Amino acid sequence: MRKLILAAASVAALVGVAVLAGPASAQAPIIIKFSHVVASNTPKGAAAEKFKELAEKYTAGKVKVEVYPNSTLYKDKEELEALQLGAVQMLAPSNSKFGPIGVREFEVFDLPYILPDLATLRKVTDGPLGARLLKKLDPKGMTGLAYWDNGFKEMTANKKLIAPADYKGVKFRIQSSKVLEAQFRSLGAIPQVMAFGEVYQALQTGVVDGQENTTSNVYSQKMHEVQKYMTMTNHGYIGYVVVVNKKFWDGLPADIREQLEKAMKEATAYGNNQSAKENDDALAEIIKTGKTEIIKLTPEQDKAMREAMDPVYKDVATRVGQPLIDEFIKETGGVTH
Ligand code: LMR
Repeated sequence: MRKLILAAASVAALVGVAVLAGPASAQAPIIIKFSHVVASNTPKGAAAEKFKELAEKYTAGKVKVEVYPNSTLYKDKEELEALQLGAVQMLAPSNSKFGPIGVREFEVFDLPYILPDLATLRKVTDGPLGARLLKKLDPKGMTGLAYWDNGFKEMTANKKLIAPADYKGVKFRIQSSKVLEAQFRSLGAIPQVMAFGEVYQALQTGVVDGQENTTSNVYSQKMHEVQKYMTMTNHGYIGYVVVVNKKFWDGLPADIREQLEKAMKEATAYGNNQSAKENDDALAEIIKTGKTEIIKLTPEQDKAMREAMDPVYKDVATRVGQPLIDEFIKETGGVTH
């Protein structure tokens, strides 16, 4: 795969040279390949399409955005390598996926119950802490442009998950985040890192028993067809960092970059305004199919889950950084752990 990515990167570099070469190719548009792993009818899929529409409009066609959804180009880990090598220019991986390239700080968003709602999240993403976190990506050859929402995660499995004890020994697919690993270990479950594009089949064949995700991701990947139960835990958040290859971005003509920044700002507002509705709609569709039983927790059951996962904060303090966790909690004015 690495070879393939490298080959694609050199082609991309050649194309870049051709664009700069001279008058014959002066009209060739600048191509932004935007690769992602979810379906188009999800919060990220819709925001990516909106960005394409606005970017092409504001640059009057000087930029062409090619969106590749559903892992058609690359899976989770590969897409980050491809971005660093310049084989694609833009991605929006979830906060949980930056650990493997050496940026652990975004895993703070994975801490269980750290965000009571999306309005609270904005205090972090729109504030100085959010800006500082984006800067951590610079040394990795990428520029962080925006935070995009998906929403809150629910638990799915083929057994009823109500009390923490129900999770014991159950195999869960997780994203590549050590915080998520610690979260499932705190419940006595067995976490297994797996690319998003492989989850449906792994659930279907029993390679894993369950997973955690937003309702829009569950519905658009048809996970509800192979999971009998979904427990509405809302225990964690999935959101994205829109990243662009730094060299590509810095090399753009200033006016084009400004137009793209405007398009990104508007696409972000558009996407984040409707992500909650998209998840609500997906939940309604899942219920309509009648294939998955939806389980709601009582306040006591919810409290038991919170207490069971609370040790995660201590378990990951050295990895994520206690000062960062403290600052995050201070910014959100939220839970004390
Ligand atoms: C997952 O891997 O479960 C999600 O991060 C997929 C996504 O991009 O929403």
